Amino acid sequence: MCGIVGYAGFGDAKEFLLSALHNLEYRGYDSAGIAATNGDEIRTIKRAGRVKGLEETINGEFANATSGIGHTRWATHGAPTDKNAHPHFSYDGKVAIAHNGIIENHSELKRRLEADGIAFESETDSEVVAHLIARHMEAGDTLLSATKKASRRLKGLSVILAISSNEPDTVVGIRIGYAGSLLLGESADGWMLASNAAAMPTDVNEVTPIDHCEAVSINRNRSMIVDVAGNVVDKAPVTIRAENRISEINEYARFMHKEISEQAATIQGAFRGRVDFSERRIEIPELRVLPSDVNRIVFAGMGTSHFAAMYGARQTERLARIPTSVEYAGELADRDPVMGERDVMVAVTQSGETYDTLVAIEKAKASGSATAVVTAHIHSEAARMADVAIDIGSGLEVAVPATKTFINSMLVLYMFSLQLGHVSGRLTDHEFERHVESIVSLPGAINRVLGREAQIAELARKRFADVTNMLILGRGDHYPIALEGALKMKETAYIHAEGCSASEMKHGINALIEPSTPTIALVPNDGEFRTKMLTSIYEVQSRRGEVIALASEGDIEVEAIADDVIPIALNEENHSPFLMTIPLQQLAYHAALARGIDPDRPRNLAKTVTVA
Ligand code: G6P
Repeated sequence: MCGIVGYAGFGDAKEFLLSALHNLEYRGYDSAGIAATNGDEIRTIKRAGRVKGLEETINGEFANATSGIGHTRWATHGAPTDKNAHPHFSYDGKVAIAHNGIIENHSELKRRLEADGIAFESETDSEVVAHLIARHMEAGDTLLSATKKASRRLKGLSVILAISSNEPDTVVGIRIGYAGSLLLGESADGWMLASNAAAMPTDVNEVTPIDHCEAVSINRNRSMIVDVAGNVVDKAPVTIRAENRISEINEYARFMHKEISEQAATIQGAFRGRVDFSERRIEIPELRVLPSDVNRIVFAGMGTSHFAAMYGARQTERLARIPTSVEYAGELADRDPVMGERDVMVAVTQSGETYDTLVAIEKAKASGSATAVVTAHIHSEAARMADVAIDIGSGLEVAVPATKTFINSMLVLYMFSLQLGHVSGRLTDHEFERHVESIVSLPGAINRVLGREAQIAELARKRFADVTNMLILGRGDHYPIALEGALKMKETAYIHAEGCSASEMKHGINALIEPSTPTIALVPNDGEFRTKMLTSIYEVQSRRGEVIALASEGDIEVEAIADDVIPIALNEENHSPFLMTIPLQQLAYHAALARGIDPDRPRNLAKTVTVA
């Protein structure tokens, strides 16, 4: 979602701002802009579309600018047009602002400003901020105090960056609540502010997160963080890890393809510091601080992370025999859940920034529950809020459709439930070691499945290039996989796909079956589930539905009945949810290409969802 950057220094502001905006593109946006000053006046160039287009428009402008702000916008109030793109100017042209978040009382503020004769240029909620700051500066305030005063009039959650031609060397930032992070970094030629560590130049190795109700002011010589009362805040920076940076795309055409194809290696990031291969032991050390007498574990997340949470809840129930529930974080945030000191919340969020998930963590904490977060961003807001942060070890994911972070989150949750089960004595040493062996052999098994991509690409072109509706059926541990597979099809290939528990078919979904609605059936190796899935295949076909089965290599019965089969080398039952996920990811990716869609940046979606 919206990304924000600021720079003040001795270097080329435009160069930093554009490169930082490029590095924030993966979060999802629909327009971009920068405002910068060379000491005399502020200029802004902004436009709908990609940062590349902005860069072409700028072409040589802002030649001597040494401070400025930039923004990638994901439209909430007003269409994604040039006018609505940030930064926004104040009525007197002296202040420019970029804003992340939502100003809930913007209509009221706008009415008052208009009554005073101020004309608005955009349809955004954000523009009011520029006018409010300019008003305070007109009355004699500095940029910092004017920004603080203006922010006090805003309802809702915001991150704001502001510059003014009255103080051309200064950039001011402020954070009210949570509308994405704001990080401060220092490079050789100046200070910078950004929503994410990925936006920082490579010579910036540490960042300082700006917290709720803190403001920050930077110029070429120094930076200063102040709290509400105006006291200077001194805090320790955190190190940016290599995996927080955007990796090279290398030989791949799309990040989604790279992220799917490298999963056999990526999954080993979850082993780091946790697996003792010679002793056949697994331990996530961070879990030691969680209470030992757990009453219930509430798993929560949004989107793909919700389905990883669902898988985790099932494993914890199965292996640790602890009661679990699984929730959409947004739904939990909207309720008053009964939680207490002996409950634990496990929040799954690859970005660590999802607004609804943060609110759910806050609720759990307020009820006295311990909280753990499972994330790819160990310095994120969620990681800072929770009692325990567990790194999934995947590194930063760039494509909007989550793939590698799903697999790594599931693996971490599998290890989590295994450890709880072993520590509590629910799992014997022998059972524990069997599971460890299965985990250790997972990368090899993933590699074998990845090798079938050519067949899946062909199938995607043949069967999914023109499909409007489809179903994906699973049971047990494969139900969350069916849901995730359907989500991938929706967000990546724009196919209306419904993920269903095969047990639900007779209760309504059967009515949807027709020749133009294909069904993907996830058929595991396990006896009971396999038999039930075979029955489901027969039932779909009896209603003239076509079935594509994901099934164990050499399952001749499935081969005989299904219209198409994707064979999977399923030698180990516990691998099955992981291995079934991968062809579904590949299918969505190749279906998107066949339908002329850029799978890395699906329409209307964002990678990081920082608003409600
Ligand atoms: C967005 C992303 C999804 C992600 C979801 C939850 O919708 O596009 O890929 O699954 O947010 O994000 P989180 O960062 O909390 O995992």
